[in-house]
Amino acid sequence: MCGIVAYVGHREAAPLVLKGLKRLEYRGYDSAGIALLDAEPSPSGLRVYKKKGKVADLENELAGKELAAKIGIGHTRWATHGAPNDVNAHPHESQDRKLAIIHNGIIENYAAIKQNLIRKGHVFRSETDSEVLIQFIEDIRKETGSSLEEAVRLALQEVVGAYAVVILSEEDPTQLIAARKGSPLVIGVGGNEFFFASDATPIIEYTKDVIYLNDQEIAVVRAGELKIITLDNAPTTPYIQKVELELEAIEKGGFEHFMLKEIFEQPRSIADSMRGRVRAEEEHLQLGGLRDYLGQLAASERVVIVGCGTSWHAGLVAEYIFEELARIPVEVEYASEFRYRNPIIKERDVVIAISQSGETADTLAAIELAKSKGATIFGVCNVVGSSIARTAHAGAYTHAGPEIGVASTKAFTAQVTVLTLMALSAAQQKGTISNTVFRQLLAELERIPALVEKVLRDAQKVKEIAYIFTYARNFIYLGRGLNFPVALEGALKLKEISYIHAEGYPAAEMKHGPIALIDEDMPVVVIATKDSSYEKVVSNIQEIKARKGRVIAVVTEGDSHIREMVDFVIEIPNVHEMLMPLISVIPLQLLSYYIAVMRGRNVDQPRNLAKSVTVE
Ligand code: F6R
Repeated sequence: MCGIVAYVGHREAAPLVLKGLKRLEYRGYDSAGIALLDAEPSPSGLRVYKKKGKVADLENELAGKELAAKIGIGHTRWATHGAPNDVNAHPHESQDRKLAIIHNGIIENYAAIKQNLIRKGHVFRSETDSEVLIQFIEDIRKETGSSLEEAVRLALQEVVGAYAVVILSEEDPTQLIAARKGSPLVIGVGGNEFFFASDATPIIEYTKDVIYLNDQEIAVVRAGELKIITLDNAPTTPYIQKVELELEAIEKGGFEHFMLKEIFEQPRSIADSMRGRVRAEEEHLQLGGLRDYLGQLAASERVVIVGCGTSWHAGLVAEYIFEELARIPVEVEYASEFRYRNPIIKERDVVIAISQSGETADTLAAIELAKSKGATIFGVCNVVGSSIARTAHAGAYTHAGPEIGVASTKAFTAQVTVLTLMALSAAQQKGTISNTVFRQLLAELERIPALVEKVLRDAQKVKEIAYIFTYARNFIYLGRGLNFPVALEGALKLKEISYIHAEGYPAAEMKHGPIALIDEDMPVVVIATKDSSYEKVVSNIQEIKARKGRVIAVVTEGDSHIREMVDFVIEIPNVHEMLMPLISVIPLQLLSYYIAVMRGRNVDQPRNLAKSVTVE
């Protein structure tokens, strides 16, 4: 949530920062801004340009302006405090306009700090907590006469909340000061140049050497040297690691949108999430990051899964699989609810946190709570080195590659795949699964990428259905068993990118209320694959048809029975019931994508959303 980029070195900062902001735009896109400083400070000092709207709007604003600078900071915003407008856009300046800050996160005690500063005569230009922070730093500096670095440290010691910040000062065109707590910050280290960003994507074009700043650390770059200290002023040794990300992974590669590219990448991303882990011929599974903890998972009395949004849906799928295969009771919780009650966590509970970004504030807080109560935490994250991955005791990365489209697609299928592997490992260890079923499931898993590929070949068929329903005002999605969470996920995808109201339900729940909504204008997507609840779902379809609902059924290929009953069918290949969500979700992703495109929506950056929700 909010993207930050900063640079100091020998290159021109403005184009580099702007390009970086575009790469981070998925994190927020309601306003953007940049602050630049000449090597030879001019009388006008810092040059700050800000604009409501996308980074492209900022670029238009910058046309014809003097942008020469070798140091600069930039920000793309997802509004928390204050409406999205030019004034509330970052960077924010100190009262004397000698300091500028970019900030991702929320300063929770900003109101008290602000009141105090107002009493001292400070005047604020914006409504943001970030401006409060930079004026607070300015105030400490003036009162104590300390260096900027020390003033930043003292200010951050007083701050409650989450932040990743970078500060630029007019006084030193070789200096950037950055800090983090709860919001991600990566430092790229080049030959005599330094990059700061919310994730590595703006950096990898220039260097693969990065440092993931830890919570409560401050990084200071001055005159080509980097040092890192803690908030308590203890020096730490920077740990430089190589990022493996390739540039092509974060570009559209000929697709019209990142979301479409990511949907079509799923044969590969699912294969990547299993790579080196599944050896069907040896009847063996290997999850390196869980090796020492597998016994604990198998012996657990209960698994509690926490996550948000799509990741929560992946957790619901996992609930069926863990309970069926490993016979471990599972509870799936919204992280945002879990963290604010007093959940009962027992010693032999395992908590699995699912998060694509690994930065979701609620999920992070939920696992910190569970950890404080003695639970063992497993992370299932996509972003390597992310906060949740680092907070968990153990875990398995999903290895889906960067997901840039705001609506999650390939992350979901990779999460379900990895969770299935975890359930299978636990089941094998516990002896709750026969060798035959274990072998059969591993073999089926290996077929999934090819089956997904097959579904994708029929994308045109889904597009034709999307065309017919482009202007529907509501949608209902129904499924039973493992296809129930898929129905929820299909509805979420549709509403978030097309802005059509959509609801997902367990098919049998229809008659307890939602059936009242059915008439000839109501499209109902029913996932009706040949599984243990097939006959029941057929009855549910009949109930809808009896009330003139228009049914789009996702069926197992060759199913002529349902074809005769419904308005449209989308056929998908058959697979073991436990693995069906990996296949049945694909047409629903495509349906939402095509409807959103036909409605002219901004698919990759839907309104009001951000990819990484680092505020609660
Ligand atoms: C929906 C979507 C969100 C995320 C949710 C959790 O398409 O992307 O619902 O799934 O914000 O994000 P992560 O998985 O990063 O914790």
